[in-house]
Amino acid sequence: MASSRPSTRLKKVGGKSSSAFILLRVLPFLVVLSVPLLLQYERGPLVFPAQNRNQEINSANIVGNERNFLEIGLMTGTDKVRGPRRLEKCLKDTKNCVREAVEPQCRTGAKHFYHTMYQKWLGSSSIDDSEPFQFLEIGFYNGDGYDTYTNFMPRGEAHSMEISCAEPSSQNKWPEKWGNFAMKNSRYQVYRDRQRLHCGDAYKYKFLKSVWDTKMKRPDAPPLKLVIDDGSHLAIHMATTLFFWFPRIEPGGILVVEDIQPIKQANKFRLHVLPQVMKDLHYCGDDRVKDEVCFPTIRYLLQSVHCEMHICVFERNNEPSEEPDEEHSMPPPHTLKAKKCLFGED
Ligand SMILES: C[S@@+](CC[C@H](N)C(=O)[O-])C[C@H]1O[C@@H](n2cnc3c(N)ncnc32)[C@H](O)[C@@H]1O
Repeated sequence: MASSRPSTRLKKVGGKSSSAFILLRVLPFLVVLSVPLLLQYERGPLVFPAQNRNQEINSANIVGNERNFLEIGLMTGTDKVRGPRRLEKCLKDTKNCVREAVEPQCRTGAKHFYHTMYQKWLGSSSIDDSEPFQFLEIGFYNGDGYDTYTNFMPRGEAHSMEISCAEPSSQNKWPEKWGNFAMKNSRYQVYRDRQRLHCGDAYKYKFLKSVWDTKMKRPDAPPLKLVIDDGSHLAIHMATTLFFWFPRIEPGGILVVEDIQPIKQANKFRLHVLPQVMKDLHYCGDDRVKDEVCFPTIRYLLQSVHCEMHICVFERNNEPSEEPDEEHSMPPPHTLKAKKCLFGED
């Protein structure tokens, strides 16, 4: 008798009656949990509870009622903020490092430390009573970054561009070759229906211009204050984002370029584009010193450039926004050949 009891219990735990029992216990919780998600589907981004805000994060100082970028990023799972945790593990055991590098922060590979930069620059746009504004992230992927921004800045009208959800064509092999990454986001269809997720090549003038003219620059739209490039990480594409979007951003807004690390694809942005922008930032046009502007369409709109590791912010001054023609919306021929403008060499 005594020996039959445990076996009966084991049988029950794995059996149908126990599954039904567990389901009955769990079902009410699932229903309660799904209500806010369903409401969120209708209303907009999920906003994390107030008690999760304003806790101390590394070196970024959170002011007043700002939301906490690191915390929100950890909840959505974006790579933008997963550097600190990965580094901690990597320093304990090299098996957890993604690559070898002298600089420990580089050992985390694509797990970044961007929260300090975002908190500093976007913290004031994260508060409940910030002025409405519009922003764009290039490179949606699964939408973890997009969901981070929308939860961090609920007053922002969020847009994103992604190539993997575009119609396959002879020009665009992405969806067929690698699949539609964006579809993995549970709100994919909502974002598409609301015309917030724009599927196409974010580095082609025609696509950029059409999304800008028809979906973003509407009479009822709030001002464009922020553009983030987290797309292909090809230097010429990163430069395209700078040339197309910087003049269109409203005074005081910012353009962020991510992943400026030493990798083959992005190298020339760090080595050729950034130094030319920095030269222009200090331009005087004084006759006594031979000087030349590298990027005339950017220079006179530029207030400042701020970089932390692998991420830079280009700040707009107070000059009004502009609509350059196609030629002036795209990178000039010397964009990835800095020597001429920097040193007068070919
Ligand atoms: C690094 S992932 C973006 C990650 C995302 N921002 C996040 O934080 O989770 C880069 C994305 O850019 C997309 N992409 C690459 N080239 C593109 C292009 N020419 N136009 C639009 N999107 C592009 C890729 O398909 C990929 O989904």
